[in-house]
Amino acid sequence: MEKDLAHIQENALQEIEKAVTPEEVEDLRIQYLGRKGALTGILRSLKDLSPEDRSRVGAEANMLQRRITELLDERKVMFQKTIRESLLKKEWVDVTRPGVQAEIGHLHPLTQITREMTDIFSSMGFEIVDGPEAETEYYNFDALNIPEFHPAREMWDTFWLKQSAKGGLFARSDLQSKSDLGHKSLRLLLRTHTSPVQIRYMETHNPPFRIIVPGRVYRYEATDASHDVQFHQIEGLVVDNNVSIASFKAIIQEFFSRLFTKRVIIRLRPSYFPFTEPSFEVDISCVYCSGKGCSICKRTGWLELAGAGMVHPNVFKAAGYNAKEVRGFAFGMGIDRLALMKYNIPDIRLFRSGDLTFLKQF
Ligand code: FA5
Repeated sequence: MEKDLAHIQENALQEIEKAVTPEEVEDLRIQYLGRKGALTGILRSLKDLSPEDRSRVGAEANMLQRRITELLDERKVMFQKTIRESLLKKEWVDVTRPGVQAEIGHLHPLTQITREMTDIFSSMGFEIVDGPEAETEYYNFDALNIPEFHPAREMWDTFWLKQSAKGGLFARSDLQSKSDLGHKSLRLLLRTHTSPVQIRYMETHNPPFRIIVPGRVYRYEATDASHDVQFHQIEGLVVDNNVSIASFKAIIQEFFSRLFTKRVIIRLRPSYFPFTEPSFEVDISCVYCSGKGCSICKRTGWLELAGAGMVHPNVFKAAGYNAKEVRGFAFGMGIDRLALMKYNIPDIRLFRSGDLTFLKQF
């Protein structure tokens, strides 16, 4: 048995020395000290020895057990240290190093100006209303007093939408209100202006009210520095029993003065829109030269910024109102053109160009 102990000692010391992974150390622990281990076997059979042999061999076996345990523990600690050191090296982070600054974007200039405009109108008691961009012919034209074959339709070059393969409407629940279904003109188009929302709103609300409708509109026309196929408008509609062009002028003058942070003068020129009577073009005194005449206002001293007028009785009728009982004014302006003016931008197409050098200026 003493020979066996010497043999175990020799082998164990050699093998522990050679172990290079924590797993190998653990295997050796099981091999020598485990329940079925070599040394455990000897300790168990001590009971069969004579009392003198038992105490001598027992002492030797215990010593060897301690020695092997110590060596295994040392080896384990050594591995843990090397593992920790290599992890520290690999995963070391310099917490004092300045971070990489995340690039923070900002709102598109058109969103910025739209929010400024809606804020000003909100502060004057206007409600902000929305409507569909894919619109029916009825709301975009007929209900606005522009019947089929009326020459006024040519004022708005239109993108028509194809019907779905089954020949019906696209499944858009917001296009299927009562009036859609009750009229023939269900052909779909991309709205050419925000005016159809006038009808949609009046169909479901009673006066008095004042609303604005900001939104995207589309026109099938050639692009240039001041025309795009897709742009934005803000529609305004005020219906009450005592409103007049004078009230419109006061509101719009206050609006433009606040938008351009400058006192501006308003000029109304007679014009024609099928859905208003009388109709006007709205000019403001040039914000660059204060009306003296410059290249931006083409030496006229005035900038043309909106269309407006008193709501036509046929529009009230289409919306289900008694045209004799209500009065209202409506206006519509191009947001992109106002942004060109406010930020002095030379070309409307820059807004949708995705050019970051341009966009980062705002
Ligand atoms: C209309 O669209 C009328 N619905 C406005 C209106 C509403 C009049 C309510 C009366 C009562 P007009 O086609 O003029 O009108 O367009 C209004 C504004 O949209 C123009 O003054 C202009 O600022 C802008 N606009 C028109 N076409 C383009 C275009 N291709 N690109 C950019 N802006 C445009």
